[in-house]
Amino acid sequence: MAQSPGPGADAGLPANPLSAANPAIRGALPLGGAALVGCGSAVPATSLSNADLSERVDTSDDWIRSRTGIGARRVAGPGETITSLAAQAAFAALDHAGWEPQQVDLILLATSSPDDLFGTAPRVQAAIGASRAVAFDLTAACSGFLFSLITAAQYLRNGSFQRVLVIGADQLSRWLDWDDRRTCVLFGDGAGAVAMQACPASEDGLLAFRMRSDGSRNACLTLAQTDAQRPLVGSTSAQVGGFAPIHMNGQEVYKFAVREVPAVLAELLQSTGVEAASLDWLLLHQANQRILDAVADRFAVPHERVLSNLAHYGNTSAATIPLMLDEAVRDGRIQPGHLIASSGFGAGLSWGGALLRWRGPGGIPDSAGA
Ligand code: COA
Repeated sequence: MAQSPGPGADAGLPANPLSAANPAIRGALPLGGAALVGCGSAVPATSLSNADLSERVDTSDDWIRSRTGIGARRVAGPGETITSLAAQAAFAALDHAGWEPQQVDLILLATSSPDDLFGTAPRVQAAIGASRAVAFDLTAACSGFLFSLITAAQYLRNGSFQRVLVIGADQLSRWLDWDDRRTCVLFGDGAGAVAMQACPASEDGLLAFRMRSDGSRNACLTLAQTDAQRPLVGSTSAQVGGFAPIHMNGQEVYKFAVREVPAVLAELLQSTGVEAASLDWLLLHQANQRILDAVADRFAVPHERVLSNLAHYGNTSAATIPLMLDEAVRDGRIQPGHLIASSGFGAGLSWGGALLRWRGPGGIPDSAGA
């Protein structure tokens, strides 16, 4: 069967390496690149302040701000879902990139709080009219967006796809115990999307990455299926579907983050020879301002180059990185060509890092395969 010529065809690159007849030579062939060309985001209308929360649980604005940097979070109301928030973010990213929905080849939705356990990405595909795109979910908690972006880049680099929408969306308000002050103050709902396009390898926007998992520490942070059983016939029973609210050992997660995030970023810098001083931005998963500050201090990155919107949105899980990226691109802090060190971390446990070059819209010619 004939295959499409791939991203390099019109961009001065060799033909798609995966179209080679002999799979054995694939690894030896040059790959293309993946550029970050657009972004968008969406948050629910309702904002819940720390003062609002202190009406429900024994907490205070001072406690929450001083321990986490969080001042408020958005909570999805009736009619606001993962599908609607992700679709809104996706529409904004399409518009920013200057793409039509029909041009999208793949929608990768990072979420741990889907509307449908069978997958929410196809609903997003339908909502935005991207009927050509294959769409599926990827679950890696707060590392989900970064893992999805790295995954998307592989499809783009190897010529499988030309245009990908990577979306991070979570609605953890569904899964919080709103009477547990140790967790309910931390999380919020939201969605962010990045449009990624195949490009010449010399313009690759993913300079380096690392991905890590450690299931032996899974119990630190869970949103786990419960054990309840439903009797069927005789001695046979079946498990009842349902999840216990988010459970977290805050101190263990804190220690994990301040140890592993600097380690993974140090590896990235070392492997690429990039000095921390050359980073334009540190774009970390927005979990806690103290974690952001600790990582910045480890690399002597000035705090004004550390992106944070925790005060407004709290921890939106898979959405934090694209939500923050979109805000900083739209207000002009992040400019085309800027170098960004990013890290996602959270339940799993999972964590990872990426050195990214923001490109912004325009300038990549369509390949014949698009
Ligand atoms: N308001 C007031 N008091 C609170 C509270 C709240 N919202 N949450 C916890 N407390 C209390 C605890 O009950 C405890 O009281 P006690 O000593 O009487 O038992 C006290 O504060 C200290 O609790 P502790 O859990 O030791 O607090 P901490 O300093 O570790 O801060 C976190 C708690 C959650 C802010 C902190 O551990 C943290 O940020 N961890 C990382 C969490 C995270 O980022 N998770 C997501 C990763 S993706």
